[in-house]
Amino acid sequence: MNDPGSTVPAATRRLDPDTAGLAEAAALLRAGDLVAFPTETVYGLGADATDPAAVARIFSAKERPRFNPLIAHLPDMDAALAEGLFDGLARRLAEAFWPGPLTLVVPADPGTRVCDLARAGLPSVALRVPAHPLARVLLSEVGRPVAAPSANRSGRVSPTRASHVLDDLAGRIAAVLDGGDTPVGVESTVVACLGGVPRLLRPGGITRAALRAVLGLDPVGADPADSDHPAGPGMLASHYAPRAQVRLDATSVEPGEAVLLFGDEHPAGLAGARAALNLSPAGDLAEAAARLFGALRALDASGAAAIAVVPVPSDGLGEAIRDRLARAAAPR
Ligand code: TXA
Ligand code: MG
Repeated sequence: MNDPGSTVPAATRRLDPDTAGLAEAAALLRAGDLVAFPTETVYGLGADATDPAAVARIFSAKERPRFNPLIAHLPDMDAALAEGLFDGLARRLAEAFWPGPLTLVVPADPGTRVCDLARAGLPSVALRVPAHPLARVLLSEVGRPVAAPSANRSGRVSPTRASHVLDDLAGRIAAVLDGGDTPVGVESTVVACLGGVPRLLRPGGITRAALRAVLGLDPVGADPADSDHPAGPGMLASHYAPRAQVRLDATSVEPGEAVLLFGDEHPAGLAGARAALNLSPAGDLAEAAARLFGALRALDASGAAAIAVVPVPSDGLGEAIRDRLARAAAPR
């Protein structure tokens, strides 16, 4: 049916990661449509960050309950520096980790093109230069900042492949640029540089130790348990949640539970599990991060009422993994 007045959403298109697909994705974004695209962390749900009507479509497609601030994505350092005011420490972090899985929250430049709605009316702006080659080409073809939260329905597990995006958003967005699996697998580390000591708002793909090595000091950590004062939707206690209940630091498995394993941990009762997946049999935290969200989706699809998760270490990328698991386990 081609009735332009139809309220039935057109089918979401899957675009190939080639020249034609990138050109189509850029044209859709420039026209104010929603396009999901791969970054090295997770798939983002992109919209023209300069266009409030386009940004508003993100909130309705995701059913994001409140108008929370979004990250503006830029193709390179110079484009990002134009949107915000960087102090010495922000500059140092940008130079060390961009392009890459770091988001910097800085005071917005008075001339920023990132619209108020994308910034939720805040005087600050969240900026990121992703390292994924498709994202970088797409962003330079769009030629404007692109607002992009993770391309999942609000509160659900973030997508690390195009099929995850379609599971949540088919019929609600114009297209998804299919770049295969995202290599990092957890979202970017969010650091606020608003004067004084930088604050770690969300652990992610850049570890606390890597930040410390560049800053020469420890960023102030946000307290993930303080759900009364969330710094944003990613800071709400319940987030990244599968349908099943999640049970952390399990040393045994109840009959019929699904199990998320790590390393050579072998919990009692494993034989009676409904499904089991190992994030990294070798105990490699980078591999575990890359597989985390896909594994949660797959174990959820097993139909188990609960997912038991064996202990995952908290060093390195383990901090971000444990943060996402704690949110998945939080009361809804
Ligand atoms: O890896 C990622 O960061 C992915 C990819 C697509 O880039 N994006 C992502 O976006 O995870 P989202 O919307 O799920 O998370 C953005 C986080 C939220 O926790 C939000 O509160 C925070 O960044 N944020 C954005 N602007 C902010 C601001 N001005 N002040 C404080 N926090 C801000
Ligand atoms: Mg998200």
